[in-house]
Amino acid sequence: MKKVVVLTGAGISAESGIQTFRGSDGLWEGHDVMEVASPIGWKNNKSLVLDFYNKRRAQLLQVSPNPGHLALVTLEEMFEVEIITQNVDDLHERAGSKNVLHLHGELFKVRSTKNSNLIYEWKKDLNIGDVCEEKAQLRPHIVWFGEDVPMLNKAVEITFKADILLIIGTSMKVYPAANLINYTKPNIPIYFIDPEPSVYQSQYSNLNIIAENASTGVLKVVNELTR
Ligand SMILES: NC(=O)c1ccc[n+]([C@@H]2O[C@H](COP(=O)([O-])OP(=O)(O)OC[C@H]3O[C@@H](n4cnc5c(N)ncnc54)[C@H](O)[C@@H]3O)[C@@H](O)[C@H]2O)c1
Repeated sequence: MKKVVVLTGAGISAESGIQTFRGSDGLWEGHDVMEVASPIGWKNNKSLVLDFYNKRRAQLLQVSPNPGHLALVTLEEMFEVEIITQNVDDLHERAGSKNVLHLHGELFKVRSTKNSNLIYEWKKDLNIGDVCEEKAQLRPHIVWFGEDVPMLNKAVEITFKADILLIIGTSMKVYPAANLINYTKPNIPIYFIDPEPSVYQSQYSNLNIIAENASTGVLKVVNELTR
């Protein structure tokens, strides 16, 4: 079976009702990203950060996968599919995709601030005073700006094995994730699905740009690959 690697960003979940990262106002759900997604933001105001992710977690419980997530599942009938997502939601898993690597962490997990190996499933609110078994405060299991991306090497390995690459709903502005496109074997077909694509045809050989929403664009590409 050929291997399809799919890199997804916030755009694939937009039609499920989750806002993308940089709306036109440059904020994430009304917040400066450094306030809610950086170690300095956490140091300055833990309650604000916890409240922000509590709201994201509560919202995630209310939404469902959309046709973009679902179309990727049907690809598994004909290809070995690996999804590398920048998203912290679990909509790929809920749609039924089998192999999903989260580069930037997961909303439904929290971890110890003392021992990063202590990771717990968490669907409710996280508050000041919620501690790990070593009695240290728990924090969201999210990769914040300026922090290491522990899954990066694995993501590079997966990308290098791709026979076909799909990139969906990402502004390609968050590094190192945006750099994965440069770790494929030479000349493999690349499909970029985003209503406001941030790459140009001339940048890569074999680049197909589908300037559409995920719900229609992913289905088009899946139909082309499986016909
Ligand atoms: N759902 C989530 O888990 C979520 C949501 C917001 C932010 N984030 C975090 O924010 C960072 C975001 O970087 P990013 O590049 O993923 O997002 P981004 O917000 O920087 O870019 C979103 C991209 O999605 C596109 N888009 C908008 N509507 C779309 C649609 N209906 N279909 C397809 N594409 C659409 C936009 O044109 C844009 O290029 C990541 O680190 C991620 O962890 C995650």
